[in-house]
Order: sequence, then C-alpha cells, then structure tokens
Amino acid sequence: MSADDDKYPGESGRRRFVKGVVGGAALAGVGATGSAAVNSLTTSPGKGGGQTQAMAIENTDGPAPRGMPQIPVEIDSDGLIKGVWPEVKTETQGGVQIKVAEMELGGQTYSSEWFQYCGVETYQGIQPTYESQNYFHVGSSPAYQWQSEQMSAGDRFNVDLFSNYESWGNGVGVQGLGKPATGNWRSQDTEDTIPVTILRSPVIEQLAEDGQARGADGETYEVPSNVQTWLQASTAQGFMAWLNKCTHFCCVPKWKSEGGVKFNAANEVYCPCHQSIYEPFSIVPTLFTARPRPSE
Ligand code: FES
Repeated sequence: MSADDDKYPGESGRRRFVKGVVGGAALAGVGATGSAAVNSLTTSPGKGGGQTQAMAIENTDGPAPRGMPQIPVEIDSDGLIKGVWPEVKTETQGGVQIKVAEMELGGQTYSSEWFQYCGVETYQGIQPTYESQNYFHVGSSPAYQWQSEQMSAGDRFNVDLFSNYESWGNGVGVQGLGKPATGNWRSQDTEDTIPVTILRSPVIEQLAEDGQARGADGETYEVPSNVQTWLQASTAQGFMAWLNKCTHFCCVPKWKSEGGVKFNAANEVYCPCHQSIYEPFSIVPTLFTARPRPSE
C-alpha cells in the first residue's frame, strides 16, 4: 500500500452508528460476552474481579470479543490532561476484605475492574491504592509523528498540543476527525506500562453536547441519552481516552493506521495482529468478567 493510496481510501461500506444500531449492538455485546466469560472467574483465585460493565469503544469487526474500555479524562487548571482514577474503598467479597477503586460517574459505575484483562490486572498501576497523579505521559516511541516532533519521552499532555484537532490528519482516511496521541498512564516508576490512546475530536465534543454529530468523514454519529450523560462526565473539551490493549490477544491497535486502509478502517482503530476494528465514536456498555488481581 503506497502513501498515495492511503490518502484516497475507497468509500466506506460500513454501517452508520445511528441510534437504533448503537442500542442493538450494546445489547448483543452484553449477552455474548457475559455468558462466555463466567467460567474464568470461578477458577481464578485472587481479588476484585468478576462481572463488570465497562463503557468501551465498540468492536465492529474482527475476532476481538468486545470493545476497549474508556478511561475518563479531566483537564487540570494548567491545561494538563489526566485520567480519572476511581475512589478507593474497602469491600467484603466472599468474606474477605478487599480494596476496590470504584465510583459513580455519569450514570455508570466506573471501576478499576474495567482494565482487568490481558494481564493488566497484574500491573502495579492497576492496583487500587497505587499512588499516581494520574497524568498521561508520552512514551519513548509514540505512534504519531507529531508527537516525536513536539514531545520528549515522559512529557505530559497539554491541551495546547491539540489545538489543531479540527484539521489534523496523517494522510490516512480523512482529515478533521480529531487529533490522536499515544502514551501511558499510572506507569511512572513501574515495570509494566499501561498503554493509552488519547483522542481530541470534534465528534466527541458534539456527541457530549448534543448526542449527535456529523463527522468530517460524512458519517452521522448518534448516541442514546445515557451514553451522552456518560460522555459529558468522561470527556472534556472533546478529549477522550481508552486503554489501548486489544481485547482479542492483547496487541496494541492504532487509530488511523495505514494497515487499516484495506480493511475499510482508515478512520477507525485497527489492530494489526488479527484485523480487529474498533470505532471510537461509538461508545457502548460492555459486560464482561474482569480477571481478579493476584493475591498478595
Ligand atoms: S485482533 Fe488479535 S490481538 Fe488484536
């Protein structure tokens, strides 16, 4: 695939994410993943796992069983972007007291269990009491060229870096859908890195404000009112973030990846390992069984 080909992707044949479709997909996701995952819970010793409903960017194609979980974002008074970590509480599960990080946010129960898959449940940063300021930091090899040009490893993300979010493009798909970045979260001074994608998009901004949006790709996006309420609480100034670990076999996907062009995913998140595709502008409730954290 040449660079020129990437600039002129064919007409996308994928379906539109209008209200009815989003609702249906959400329900289907709950049924399918809920029943498939129950067994792993009963055989895994450990803490703080189990049935949980995460808000996720929808998996629309490929073998991945469900979407990737969103990380709610907030912007501090200096314009730095951080992920929200839920409040830490002590709960009794099976007669044993355990620490959980869980809070009500935008009509949803937001929990650290959202990120307990693919081994992430063993990472230090996912332990409820791990101390972090929760800022996103850029890693040593970011996925987008603009980051390599403007940022150094370890830098935090300021909103100013995204001021051209309504016109940004990388030659893949259409311009103007948003500006992405890759980084990590709650991973300073830890062995394991929690990979994240941050995306500032006019579509997310409009969905939070109006519940519907028309993207630069000509697509109409619409979310039900409960998802709009969630987006109002979990995004800020058009910024959203998600744990960038494919729910299939844990690879690292990419939004606007050259590899996704021939799979009609030039404007979506594409996983190069087995061609799973995710739609960041379709946020769906996703029921799954979070893996328990290892016992200490
Ligand atoms: S599609 Fe298999 S790891 Fe992503």
